[in-house]
Amino acid sequence: MKVLVVGANGQIGSQLVQFLHASEKYTVRAMVRREEQVKLLESQGIEAVKADLEGSVDEIAEVAKGCDVIVFTAGSGGHTGADKTLLIDLDGAVKTVEAAEKAGIDRFIMVSALQAHHRENWNEKIRPYYVAKHYADRVLAQSNLTYTILRPGGLLNELGTGKVSIAENLERSFIPREDVARTILAVIDEERTFNRSFDLVSGDTAIKDALQSL
Ligand SMILES: NC(=O)c1ccc[n+]([C@@H]2O[C@H](COP(=O)([O-])OP(=O)(O)OC[C@H]3O[C@@H](n4cnc5c(N)ncnc54)[C@H](OP(=O)(O)O)[C@@H]3O)[C@@H](O)[C@H]2O)c1
Repeated sequence: MKVLVVGANGQIGSQLVQFLHASEKYTVRAMVRREEQVKLLESQGIEAVKADLEGSVDEIAEVAKGCDVIVFTAGSGGHTGADKTLLIDLDGAVKTVEAAEKAGIDRFIMVSALQAHHRENWNEKIRPYYVAKHYADRVLAQSNLTYTILRPGGLLNELGTGKVSIAENLERSFIPREDVARTILAVIDEERTFNRSFDLVSGDTAIKDALQSL
């Protein structure tokens, strides 16, 4: 099973790429937007393709062809303005959903944000970001794709613990990026998560067991 990671040079994406590369179950194709990123990945024996989320749906569909799963973990980041939030976090995500449909890829995993589905719980300081996440998630959920939407809390660059809390609604909290990457890995073929969305923060339960509680 081949997994296209969109946002493969990112902090979650690059960890996920390494986990997939090391796994016996999956193969990985990393989607990045710069030639030097392609070369670096290829030097590690990892298949990499170049495409920009500000480009066309066809461009994304072309590099996705032949994959069985798409993981969207790209993002415009906190250093850019609301224009990039619209172009990457909203339209880039929706274009990737359209590209999956076009390329005939049924399985789609979206990295969203904690409580993106509840306006009243959006972080006041980053409402435009939450708007983007909310509507991108809605488009995916209304598509015919087999989706899973993970909504992690605040991301930390700490070592993962492998223990999480997963539920439809969780209080605002944090999670190491490594644990988000490991949870993505665990949901790819976990049928309990098909066409489901959930909040995700650090907790006391091993990832596989937490997914069983869904
Ligand atoms: N920060 C938080 O606390 C938080 C909380 C919940 C959810 N999230 C979400 O979690 C996800 C992953 O977070 P992260 O920390 O791993 O993000 P990150 O390190 O900022 O990585 C985002 C990736 O998206 C890529 N990207 C940006 N614009 C692009 C474009 N036009 N075309 C192709 N790729 C593009 C970037 O490419 P370059 O490397 O080339 O710049 C980068 O590799 C994001 O969706 C984020 O919104 C974040």
